Amino acid sequence: MGAVCYEVYPRSFADTTGSGEGDLPGIRAKLDHLDWLGIEALWVCPFYPSPMCDSGYDVADYCGVDPRFGTLEDFDQLLADAHARGMRVIIDWVPNHTSDAHPWFAEARRSRSSPKRDWYYWRDTPNNWRSAIDSGSTWTVDEASDQYFLHFFLPQQPDLNWYHADVVEAMLDGLRFWLDRGVDGFRIDSTQCLGKDLSFSDDDRCLAGEPINSFNDHPRTHEVLRRVRSLTDSYDGDRVLVGEVNLRKEAEIVKYYGQGDELQLTFNFPPLDAPWDPIVWRMLITTIEQQLDPADAWPVWTLSNHDNSRLRTRYGGSMQRARAAAVLLLTLRGTVFLYQGEELGLEDLDLRRTQMVDPAGRDVARGPMPWLREPPHGWEGRPPWRPFPPDSDTLSAEAQREDPDSMLNLHRRLIHLRQSSPVLQFGSWHHLDLARGVLSYRRSLGADHVVVLVNFTGRTKKVPLEGDWEVHVDSQAFEGKGEFARYDGEVQPDQALLLAPRPG
Ligand code: GLC
Repeated sequence: MGAVCYEVYPRSFADTTGSGEGDLPGIRAKLDHLDWLGIEALWVCPFYPSPMCDSGYDVADYCGVDPRFGTLEDFDQLLADAHARGMRVIIDWVPNHTSDAHPWFAEARRSRSSPKRDWYYWRDTPNNWRSAIDSGSTWTVDEASDQYFLHFFLPQQPDLNWYHADVVEAMLDGLRFWLDRGVDGFRIDSTQCLGKDLSFSDDDRCLAGEPINSFNDHPRTHEVLRRVRSLTDSYDGDRVLVGEVNLRKEAEIVKYYGQGDELQLTFNFPPLDAPWDPIVWRMLITTIEQQLDPADAWPVWTLSNHDNSRLRTRYGGSMQRARAAAVLLLTLRGTVFLYQGEELGLEDLDLRRTQMVDPAGRDVARGPMPWLREPPHGWEGRPPWRPFPPDSDTLSAEAQREDPDSMLNLHRRLIHLRQSSPVLQFGSWHHLDLARGVLSYRRSLGADHVVVLVNFTGRTKKVPLEGDWEVHVDSQAFEGKGEFARYDGEVQPDQALLLAPRPG
């Protein structure tokens, strides 16, 4: 639970075939590196057979591997090698919709009387619901049968009818397939979309421009999640369910933990939209701390993923801020999800709209990982499907591993420290009112406590602390292996410090 989980976006991670797209053996080849970094669990984004209209979130077969990513044997090998290193593997499960190329949908659209017709939603007239990704209608007409089918996302992603018992069974079979192979859990895509208002009433929020997935929140989803949870609980080991509940309001996402019988974890997205502002951050942390009962619910922290602009770009391109944010992220109570490339401090791709392949322009955070300093940065063969992020030579994993002061080594230090420190993983979180512009907090567990100071301003700040403290992590410098420096009462611009009481 206190683990640091690493999000792998396979297409952009590592390529072993020279196709220009990453693959499952590529992930395997980098396990030693991830182990070195201290990663304890992987979330692997979709690698299922797919026409790739939504980069694999349009699944054409829940029990297979798209040939571009490898084979089922490659997956088994990856899992075995990860497990041999004590790393857990969570895979993406996309239950709200299939691809329109899925055989179920092909059968459903064959005629109005198809036995699978009701596995999807059909209507003679559309309502006003607005879809995500392309912001069009959630209804697309099927010319042959002259009815509209429902899709909360792209027209190539028809929504499954989770009120149909056969759909539930078929989808749970898909989960059993992977659980039997030994996966450690699932990241559930667009969780909040599963249950739907079957009256299909128009909604004013869609008129105002909001897509239906951003507020859809129906009790049926909780019934489905309880079924899924009882399935994963029936397997040995701690199989975990982490939900993408993209509602962006803490009080709403908390419901998805159920009574300990739904999700073990739900992503908490408001920090992804947060500006670099200590008051906003204080509010975000306090809100989730208050909403979640620590006894049975546990926060998830993430500052980037494959759907959003990268953290460093969001924070004005400043590496110092990105480094301070890493200290913040890795010293909060909960489970941390780190998106590939964040540990290198990568920035967004510099692409014009016409160069994007994703219909929503989310390519910016999906650049290939620069492994080696020299171009093509470890991507031999065809050029990668997306250009490299800026400064891929100096930001490459190779260059940063050698430099003890690098962003990569800062992450490694923070992750290892967190692993060996119960107070950082589990300790309670208390805000400290010490200095304007500096977010200050104490983490406490029994007699142990540490203090974190994050200077959000561009000025040096005096932050007096009672007692004698030493600097265990400085976002701007490597402390070396020797004695820790004594805290001198000042925090530099955009600097974050992790302080511990000075012994003696
Ligand atoms: C989730 C995924 C996103 C995808 C969408 C539809 O939000 O993270 O990439 O487009 O679901 O499946």
